[in-house]
Amino acid sequence: MPRKLAAGNWKMNGLRADLTQLETLAARHSDASVDILICPPATLISQCKDLLFDIGGQDCHTLMAGAHTGDISAKMLADAGASHVITGHSERRMDHGETDAIVAAKSQAAHAAGLVAVICIGETRDQREAGTTLDVIDSQLAGSVPDGAGAYNTVIAYEPVWAIGTGKVPTLDQIRQVHGHIRARMRARFDDAAEMRILYGGSVKASNAADIFAVPDVDGALVGGASLTADDFSPIITALEAS
Ligand code: 13P
Repeated sequence: MPRKLAAGNWKMNGLRADLTQLETLAARHSDASVDILICPPATLISQCKDLLFDIGGQDCHTLMAGAHTGDISAKMLADAGASHVITGHSERRMDHGETDAIVAAKSQAAHAAGLVAVICIGETRDQREAGTTLDVIDSQLAGSVPDGAGAYNTVIAYEPVWAIGTGKVPTLDQIRQVHGHIRARMRARFDDAAEMRILYGGSVKASNAADIFAVPDVDGALVGGASLTADDFSPIITALEAS
């Protein structure tokens, strides 16, 4: 069984004053039996690096340096103190037109910089209603997860687009089906796929975390809104420890 991972994605939220939330969280979970990853905005990464958590970026460029105004490379994230980076979040795919090929290249750049890539996949509501969820998952996994991935440098996050920030969550059976499918696809490609963490993301909160964490092949969560305060994120970490 892989070690469980509670990951928080702060998205475009967080000022220096909010670092007190992380200090509180660190004090409460100094002896956590699960891994804790916080992905703050890039502006805060260097100020988070002394906390006991793993720290991640939310995106990186496909290249390590160059004339790309406003972008951040995986090497820069590592230099700032990050150990992880989220790639292919649906908000990046939608807002910035990121394709599977771009996500694979970004994930490869992450690996080359020594970062763990947290590669996000997930179907839209239309795709779920059309019954094509597993086909979408298949093509996103094939296109976004680069060769050279393994349990040590890659985490897969299943985030149904329709569940993000909506309060809607798939049924436990739906989560079980997709996570089992992802595990099987990863096993077919990578020898150590049994150890690769597969996170669920989308409206995870204290009240549903324990049920979601009891689903087979759910190795943790990628949490958005409920990771922004210590009071909201702490019970999710505790639920993961108890699972
Ligand atoms: P919410 O937890 O706010 O639904 O966001 C999930 C997410 O997108 C994490 O990456």
